[in-house]
Amino acid sequence: VEITVDVANPSVELSPHLYGLFFEDINFAADGGLYAELIQNRSFEYHGVNGNDPAGRDMHPLFAWEKVERDGARCLLEVSSDSPIHANNPHHAVLRISKPGSAGIRNLGFDGIRLDDGARYDFSLYARVSDWQGPARLDVVIEDANGKVAGTAKVEGIGEGWAKFDTEIFSRLTSDVGRLIVSTPGQGTLHLDMVSLFPQDTWKARKGGLRKDLVETLQNLNPKFMRFPGGCIAHGQGLENAYSWKDTVGDVAERKPNWNLWGYHQTYGLGYFEYFLLCEDLGMAPLPVVPVGVSCGFRPPQQAVPMEEMDGCVQDALDLIEFANGPVDSEWGAVRAGMGHPEPFGLEFICIGNEPHDNELFRERFPLFVKAVREAHPDLKIIGTSGLGWQIPIYDLMAEQEVYSADEHYYESPEWFLGNVARFDSFDRSKPKIFIGEYASKGSSMFNAVAEAAYLTGVERNADIVDMTCYAPLFGHAHHSQWNPDMIYFDKRTVVRSANYHVQQMFSQHKGDVFLPNTVRRARHHAVATVAGSVGFGSWRTSVEVEDLKVNGVAVDPSLWRSRGGQFLGEGSRWSQTDVAFEGALRLSNERYAGKTVAYTLRARKTGGDEGFLIAFGG
Ligand code: AHR
Repeated sequence: VEITVDVANPSVELSPHLYGLFFEDINFAADGGLYAELIQNRSFEYHGVNGNDPAGRDMHPLFAWEKVERDGARCLLEVSSDSPIHANNPHHAVLRISKPGSAGIRNLGFDGIRLDDGARYDFSLYARVSDWQGPARLDVVIEDANGKVAGTAKVEGIGEGWAKFDTEIFSRLTSDVGRLIVSTPGQGTLHLDMVSLFPQDTWKARKGGLRKDLVETLQNLNPKFMRFPGGCIAHGQGLENAYSWKDTVGDVAERKPNWNLWGYHQTYGLGYFEYFLLCEDLGMAPLPVVPVGVSCGFRPPQQAVPMEEMDGCVQDALDLIEFANGPVDSEWGAVRAGMGHPEPFGLEFICIGNEPHDNELFRERFPLFVKAVREAHPDLKIIGTSGLGWQIPIYDLMAEQEVYSADEHYYESPEWFLGNVARFDSFDRSKPKIFIGEYASKGSSMFNAVAEAAYLTGVERNADIVDMTCYAPLFGHAHHSQWNPDMIYFDKRTVVRSANYHVQQMFSQHKGDVFLPNTVRRARHHAVATVAGSVGFGSWRTSVEVEDLKVNGVAVDPSLWRSRGGQFLGEGSRWSQTDVAFEGALRLSNERYAGKTVAYTLRARKTGGDEGFLIAFGG
């Protein structure tokens, strides 16, 4: 291959933010994934997910929990909403212990709890007792699936009012199917909530933090921005289910969990503060996606906040900007500071909407956000949305609203990606820039990854108009994915980087500052071609073997050829010149020409393309 590069005349500058991440809590990417909590349904808030769980599981407040009665204990396990620890966390577990012994509850984790020999864990819970007799004590045990004890801890001094208790547990064994048991020798009514177990070995050793191996896998991509928290979950299935950032900040016991339209639950332990912090840690520009008051159009019936109530939605977006950037004496800046980050997060972009359907509901509401954000924060770059598969009319709305860029998405075949490498070459430069906020070629082969790489060459050539790209989805749980393919697969112990990951990494780690015009010319002897011919020797039952083939005098391996009926197909070298001479011998077998060898010579003229030659032999 000969590559000629015009180093003196760069054609476009590449954005510093060209390669980034799109994080959505799909495929258990957050709870059970990046968020390192080991207890599933820690706050007893699970409930049905409107039939969205692909596995059809019955979610309920005691999901992943079991009652434990040992040493003669008898008890009832219930869920109550009386006197909750916080209105956002209304349910808790109640154990009514009629006979003492060792009565308690066991959590099964996310398909079991990962335990590691020698590892330390932070355990915490909220507890209170009523009508109590005996020791007001809790015994905390981590064990493997056979009941072999890995570690123990004690919590003492449980009183009649809710209180939080923390302790540490040390594991002496390794298991992928560990459990946690909290039990008591006392008798009476025991109330429990926010039962939590975290490995201490988290990313940056933060308490209640993120899985280190998964964050490191992201870090190694060298990402320059992160779009979050979705995707479809930003709008939700119906307005009730929309992602409200305010539910996701503050003390984790006071966050308001939500069900997830991908079929499971979100604790929001990984919430907006943690997203901003992750961006800061990895040097990524945060790209929060705010819903526009219209629910996900792919999950009808689509609902919309009445126009007269839209001020509240718009204010939520403005408050988010204040949470990220506001001074510590502002209402939401104070919340950020209270969570341990008085410095602003330096938000530069805000994404308004995700994959809208082109209808009045969206067209009426979108401009309200643009106007309000622009008035309050003229320097903030507004990223609009043009939808799934380039909904051009919506792109026109983006142009009319003069947004900084429009977020377009595509999940297509690898051939589609190859066929669209030139998509941006003729793009109208007077319209907003393009943010490719979600894309992937359908399939999980090396070909998919190569097709995406090819597409990115077209992006870099047009980096003046395309300034951000991110593959989607980012994470897929090996056993609980609602969407394939994904860039990174994981289970509780393993991380698998797909071929697509390596493409992203290659482009991101080797991104240039500018694009240099270039031409690529394939040299004759390295190119590949497909040559197909048909033989018309009078019978369909003719079998043809290529005995000898020379192309322009160069011998081609005849074993690469195969005959099919009266045709033969072969792969040899591809010749870049237009005039080609074929010569050789064919062995023919049919009733007329049994085992005959026919010599041939032929000259072909190629009229276009590099796809090879069709050669017809006859008579
Ligand atoms: O990436 C998965 C989903 O695909 C996103 O939630 C949505 O925006 C798109 O349709």
